[in-house]
Amino acid sequence: MSRYAYVNGNFTRFNQAKVHIEDRGLQFGDSVYEVWAAKDGVLLDDIGHLHRLSRSLGMLRIELPLPLGSLKPIIGNLLRLNRVKNGLVYLQITRGVAPRDHPFPKNATPTIIITVRPKNYAQLEAKAQKGIKIVTKKDLRWKRVDIKTTNLLPNLLAKQEAIDEGAEDVWFFDDNGKITEGSAQNAWILNKEGNLQTRGLGEDILGGITRSTIMALAKKLNLKIVEKPFSVQEAIEAREAFVTSATSFVTAVVEIDGRPIGNGNVGSVATILRKAYFEN
Ligand code: PDD
Repeated sequence: MSRYAYVNGNFTRFNQAKVHIEDRGLQFGDSVYEVWAAKDGVLLDDIGHLHRLSRSLGMLRIELPLPLGSLKPIIGNLLRLNRVKNGLVYLQITRGVAPRDHPFPKNATPTIIITVRPKNYAQLEAKAQKGIKIVTKKDLRWKRVDIKTTNLLPNLLAKQEAIDEGAEDVWFFDDNGKITEGSAQNAWILNKEGNLQTRGLGEDILGGITRSTIMALAKKLNLKIVEKPFSVQEAIEAREAFVTSATSFVTAVVEIDGRPIGNGNVGSVATILRKAYFEN
């Protein structure tokens, strides 16, 4: 159980932590967020997530009311206060509080919320060894999903549909039938040629921080990477498939739309990359 949250400069008892009812994050989804994994007290890919946060804020023209560099010590303090060494950190920054009106308010101070929650890595490992089942669905999100905003309704609806259909998650496909990404993960395959393939960066996917770390690790392991969209059919015919994110790290996909990927088991390259991520 989390005991403390950070809200606008204060470490507050979790049950008493509050934001205003006219916060623009609540009323308009006028906000950005980041998620980090903490393992053995270390914030994984800390700098990458901070840089992306700064970019997201810039795209929305939200000015951070404190130095970006002060966020890491605040997160560290929050983890300690909650006695969490292994867990997830959620940070959200909204444009702030103002009477509801669409234009940006002139004098609002951004709201900053940070929460942490424990994570059991042993349980996660056991789960990852089974891999996940994916269904594909049309990508109905807005055209700037490279910005990590809290507008996640299409992601939530699609994920719930996937669960209702007996899968664990969803991969979105664009108007050309090419996979963009997952509901909250980047999508990868080990293609028929034996190369790692994932969509290139652009406005139609989130530039995953785990994605770029895995890319660097794969290069060190002499794996060839192709940054090119792949179709649903190519995914189904791939040797392996997997997702990357701060919550899934590297998790194998063993089934897509009811069809087994490779021999239907967790692939060896996905296993190697997951291990490499934790050892990195
Ligand atoms: N999601 N694509 C989407 C749409 C995401 O929401 C995420 C992360 C990623 C992977 O990004 P990263 O490797 O930086 O975590 C890709 C977070 C974990 C979430 O929404 O909970």
